[in-house]
Parts: sequence; C-alpha cells; structure tokens
Amino acid sequence: MLNREENEIIVHTGPGTPMGEVMRRYWLPALLSWELEEPDCTPVRVKLVGEELIAFKDTDGNIGLVDNYCPHRRASLFFGRNEECGLRCVYHGWKFDVNGNCVDMPSEPAESNFKDKVKITSYPCLDMGGVIWTYMGPPDKQPPPPKFEWTQVPDTHRGVTKVKQEGNWSQALEGGIDSIHATYLHNNDITNAARYEQRATVAHIEVEPTDYGYTYGSVRPVPDLDGNFVRAYHYVMPFTQLRPNQNTVGRGDSPPMVAGHMWVPMDDDNCMVYNWTYTLAPEPLSDELRSKHGPEVYKYIDVENGFRCIWNRDNDYGIDREVQRTKTYTGIESAANLQDRAIQESMGIQYDRSHEHLATTDRAIISARRMLLEAAKIVEDGGSPPGVAGTYYGIRAIERVLPENVRWQDALHEALFEGEGYSPAV
Ligand code: FES
Ligand SMILES: [Fe+2]
Repeated sequence: MLNREENEIIVHTGPGTPMGEVMRRYWLPALLSWELEEPDCTPVRVKLVGEELIAFKDTDGNIGLVDNYCPHRRASLFFGRNEECGLRCVYHGWKFDVNGNCVDMPSEPAESNFKDKVKITSYPCLDMGGVIWTYMGPPDKQPPPPKFEWTQVPDTHRGVTKVKQEGNWSQALEGGIDSIHATYLHNNDITNAARYEQRATVAHIEVEPTDYGYTYGSVRPVPDLDGNFVRAYHYVMPFTQLRPNQNTVGRGDSPPMVAGHMWVPMDDDNCMVYNWTYTLAPEPLSDELRSKHGPEVYKYIDVENGFRCIWNRDNDYGIDREVQRTKTYTGIESAANLQDRAIQESMGIQYDRSHEHLATTDRAIISARRMLLEAAKIVEDGGSPPGVAGTYYGIRAIERVLPENVRWQDALHEALFEGEGYSPAV
C-alpha cells in the first residue's frame, strides 16, 4: 500500500515531475526501428513521458526526434515535409534538421539571421536491437547505450514488438514483475497438469537488490519433483524486466530463450509495452518463432491506430465465457499479452494503491516501488539513479529445477550475471 503522496510520485512522469526526472536519466524506447523504414520516409508521432514528439529519418539516414509543435506558431510537424536533410513545417516553410536547428526560413527576408536564433527541442536517438531509443535528460548525464544482451544479438536471434496499454505505466510494470499471476492468469489449459506453475501454486518470492535494480526468484516446491522449480528474473530500473523462457517441462519444444518487457510511459494514462525475446542458442530463431514474436502479433494489433489491440476494453477483450468455464481461468486469449492488458486495465487507468492488501507474493512489487521512490529522491538531490551505469549488460534470466537445499542465489549466480551460456534444465 502506498499513501496518496507516494502514489502520485510514481504515477506522474511528465516534464518537471519527480518520476519524470528519473525517467529522463535513461535511454527510453521511442519507437520500433521499422517504423522509420527509409530515409525521407513519413514522419511518425511519438508520445513519451508526457511529451508529444515527431520522429523522422533524414536523407542521410540520421534519426531525428523533435517537438511536435513548430516553434513559429505551433503547427504540428507530423504534417511536415521530410525533404533534403530536414523536416519542413508546411504552414510557413520553416525547416529543421535532426539536431533541432532551423536550417531554412524562406518566409523571412534573406538578410535576416532570425533562423539562427530559433531552435526546436530535439533529443538524441540511437537505433539498437530493433528499437529507436532516445535520451531526454541533461546532456552531461547521458548514460552509456542500452546494451542489454537482447539488443546485441543478431536480428535473426530476436523478436521485438510493441502494443499500447491503456493505463498507467507503473501498474503494467507491477503486473509484469508479479510472478505468481502466471499460474492463474496465463494458465491456458487448466486440465493440463504438466506445467510446474500449475503443480505448485504457492511461490516464495525472494528479492536480491543489485546496483541496477534487483534480481528476484520465485521458488515453487513441486510436490512430485523432489526439488524446487525456480524462476529467476531481473528488474532493471526503471521499467525493464527479464524473464526466463526456457525449455522446461510443460513449456513445449523451444530453444533456450530469455524474454522481457519494457513498460514505457507515454503519458500518465497510457504506456507502450515493448515485448522482446531472444535465443541463447547459436542458431537463429526458427521462422515459426520469429513470426510468433513478430508479424503474427500484428494480427491482433492495429498498427495504424497507435498500436492498439483489436481486443480491448470496448469489447471486453473478447472474453469467451464458455472457454472460461471449461479451459482457462480467464476465457481471454493469450495472444499478444492480451490477458495481462485486460486485467491490468481493469484495475482503473491509475490504480488506487491506498485500497490494496499486499501479500507475501507481492515482495518484488514492494521492492520496485521503494526503489522508484528512492530514485526520485536521489535525482532530486542531484545524484544518479540505479541502472544508468550499464552494469546490467551481462545479465540473463534463468529457470531451473534445483534440489531443495540449494539456494538459487548461489546455484544460478554465474548464469544470472555473467551471460555464460546455457545448460539445459535438470
Ligand atoms: S507554424 Fe511552422 S512555419 Fe509557421
Ligand atoms: Fe503476465
């Protein structure tokens, strides 16, 4: 439970807010690389931490992310003409380059130097791992690039997609780092008892702080297995989770993979959820898996409508009560994180944390909140928040069955922190 004041700090990420200042100290995912398919392509609207921006790729392939509003009389640059290394406002012809300089002001007298005095807000971008990232904070505090392992593997080994979620970023984050919900919300066949999560419905959540956030394990004693099924995750400040997606019993026949999410605030009422998956195997992902973590997802997501899912709160997420009676808890399809979105949006646009009753399984959520509130204080006091230093580069998420008397913190240490290859589950 958080009091009203703490809740407000976590929820708001616009310019000048304490959490907004925290967010602006990290590289933030702004859009997917393929949204800017070629030089001089159509500009793209981006909503990020409460700011309205326009992304474009110039003639030389440089990426620009500028204020939506032209500094002259505030026309939207979404309607701008992307031409010869700049975006030209179509109202009076002022033109801006990717660095925000006004490079042409044809409507003013030739001898005027007014254009040299006008700039538009622009943020540096980098294209990495299928995502275009931006940094919106103080230039002297720009962190090293987001070299998560998933951004560094070849494109053939990774899938990354995004979908809009209509609710505050923080409740999406909390939904994601909540390990126990998979047993219920994502149980897609309650008649199939093969999955460990289903055989053990109680999980002990253990959180180990790190300098980028924390690593946490859900430890499930599985009665018929003579050991614990451990899923070990990472939370990287401020909104990234790595989760294991490996070939353990009941999970089907797939290569060893790590997956994850980033719950990126668009504004206080919406977030963009980036979902990525990559394989630890030397071989590329199969066509089937690449499609499953790419094109197939867009059967359910309306790209033209701001990446909103076709199943949404307007149609009760397509809930099928007959399926709910016979096969799953939810009756909602598992495609494209629909179950997560349905339930997290159902909590209200900005979830009221003063009415909740947290239990032992909510330890990871409690830790994340504490860390975020601390980060707000650190940044306010002029310091750097956790997770900006790149110490997360080598981390992986791992799931294993471990003997009862073995601590996952010891047994999985190397696998969790050193990115040292994969050995199959016991
Ligand atoms: S409003 Fe953009 S040039 Fe006038
Ligand atoms: Fe989930």
